[in-house]
Amino acid sequence: MPLSRSSLSIGRQFARPATTTTTTTSRRIIRLPQCRAVASLTPPHQAAAISRLPTNVDPSSDEFKENQRQMADVVARVQELARKVQRGGPDKAREKHLARKKMLPRDRVTALIDPGTTFLELSPFAGHELYPEADVPAGGIITGVGVVEGVTCVIVANDSTVKGGTYYPITVKKHLRAQAVAQENKLPCIYLVDSGGANLPHQADVFPDRDHFGRIFYNQARMSAMGIPQISVVMGPCTAGGAYVPAMSDESIIVQDQGHIFLAGPPLVKAATGEVVSPEDLGGGRMHSSVSGVTDYLAVDDAHAIVLARRCISNLNWPARSAATPAPEPTFAEPLYDPEELLGIATTNLRKPLPIREVIARIVDGSEFSEFKRDFGTTLVTGFAHIYGQRVGIVANDGILFASSSVKGAHFVELCAQRGIPLVFLQNISGFMVGSQAERDGIAKHGAKLVTAVACADVPKFTVVVGGSYGAGNYGMCGRAYSPRFLWMWPNARVGVMGGEQLAAVMETVGQKVDPELKDRIERESEPTYSSARLWDDGIIPPQHTRRYLGLGLMAAMGGRNEVKAGDTRFGVFRM
Ligand code: COA
Repeated sequence: MPLSRSSLSIGRQFARPATTTTTTTSRRIIRLPQCRAVASLTPPHQAAAISRLPTNVDPSSDEFKENQRQMADVVARVQELARKVQRGGPDKAREKHLARKKMLPRDRVTALIDPGTTFLELSPFAGHELYPEADVPAGGIITGVGVVEGVTCVIVANDSTVKGGTYYPITVKKHLRAQAVAQENKLPCIYLVDSGGANLPHQADVFPDRDHFGRIFYNQARMSAMGIPQISVVMGPCTAGGAYVPAMSDESIIVQDQGHIFLAGPPLVKAATGEVVSPEDLGGGRMHSSVSGVTDYLAVDDAHAIVLARRCISNLNWPARSAATPAPEPTFAEPLYDPEELLGIATTNLRKPLPIREVIARIVDGSEFSEFKRDFGTTLVTGFAHIYGQRVGIVANDGILFASSSVKGAHFVELCAQRGIPLVFLQNISGFMVGSQAERDGIAKHGAKLVTAVACADVPKFTVVVGGSYGAGNYGMCGRAYSPRFLWMWPNARVGVMGGEQLAAVMETVGQKVDPELKDRIERESEPTYSSARLWDDGIIPPQHTRRYLGLGLMAAMGGRNEVKAGDTRFGVFRM
């Protein structure tokens, strides 16, 4: 597995942290590019020179410039939102937090990960415009994948500047999503706990159901049983149900005079039993580290706690390359064409075709692509390539899915599953072909073959929505329901059953009077910020950084105790 941490980073992009006033660290969570690529092509690439994709992109053309202008607009809008989210809660809450000599949550994450590495943040726009009564930046919780002491870990950090770090429904969903990433990729979890527990007015939507608060602890127990380490660092309140986060962890650290763990806080204890007790005596660090044994290590402050957390990770005996003995730098060639050109290739007008080979040529090593069945089922492009030296199978839309393109896709997915090759889906799909001829040709059963293959393929899957994601095409192209390890959207992408105009037309034909607002609402609900706010994806990414996100995703998928074995997949019945 030739991917290496040092070869990957994300440069100028959306998820840039705001400058904070904390004194603890000024390092950024996402670092500037420092990719190291070989200048010349390696022997396998030379042999594959025949596979090098040509380009027909003309950056001086009017079409390119118009695309670039429109994409710059949507990118700027998303960047602006990212800057806002990065700040966390309101000024007053952040000042109060800092006055307590606590590090801001993003600074904690930055201090936790290895210097010079990249934090792959998940769904930073979670919670955006979701609750009319409150702004909940990042859903009140920061989650992502980072490297700690050479080990790729999932990090979950409460942001107590956002309503005391309490769990809104979206906070629970985001926490559970991070745990799912840990479980699927077999990555140790580090929880930086600073939360008032359930957001009480939302209790009905965070407490009783299967995928609510209790699932967090269920996951901890199950992951621990699977040998996936669970480490907690209690840096603030950890009340009621939240107390189970450290209690269910393999090892727990607590900050004295700052971290508190109790099933009921002092006011509730007084009301229930009449006992009057201070927070420190009831659930402080000294008590838990020396009397109750709920925690294992006592830290004097946040920085000390982070050092202790790093030490815990270093003692996991995890099979990672240590920083002291780096693996040999992998050799790979950067794409031949400038990824920045993706901004002139991508389009905000999803009716216009997107030349998908031009996109592939700006994502894969050396722009080399061994295309499979190039002249058959041509609306689906399939083939083998490398990303940062890792072999991948690419499945990319170049038009509507017909019967021929569907069976071609199913065939290719089978090949990758058989060989243990991760799959990358580039989604730009308006759906499967409709009409009586298509039905007579059995489009439903041929589409089902693709859906079956994608659902069952037991290799890491990654999806990038580079245009439309409509109808059942979303399923066949590994939408969220098909459990890709990560799913990202470009800022021009759209997701929905169908476009607003088509939906309004269908409603009219079934005899409904269509509210003029309906079309606009459907369009709004298809936007990537709407999707990201609800965690239908793992984030909106700048097109020009797609290669790097895929590289980080591959690193997460291959970085844990995960072995992708060839031929592990058992497929369901393919209807012939
Ligand atoms: N549900 C909903 N909102 C809550 C909340 C909860 N459980 N706990 C705190 N908040 C809100 C506060 O009303 C406040 O809102 P505002 O900014 O609009 O005024 C905001 O979160 C920050 O709370 P505040 O008490 O000012 O901050 P703090 O940092 O001094 O204390 C807590 C934070 C979480 C320690 C404290 O608020 C607390 O003890 N909350 C109750 C915790 C609890 O009993 N949870 C039960 C879980 S089952």
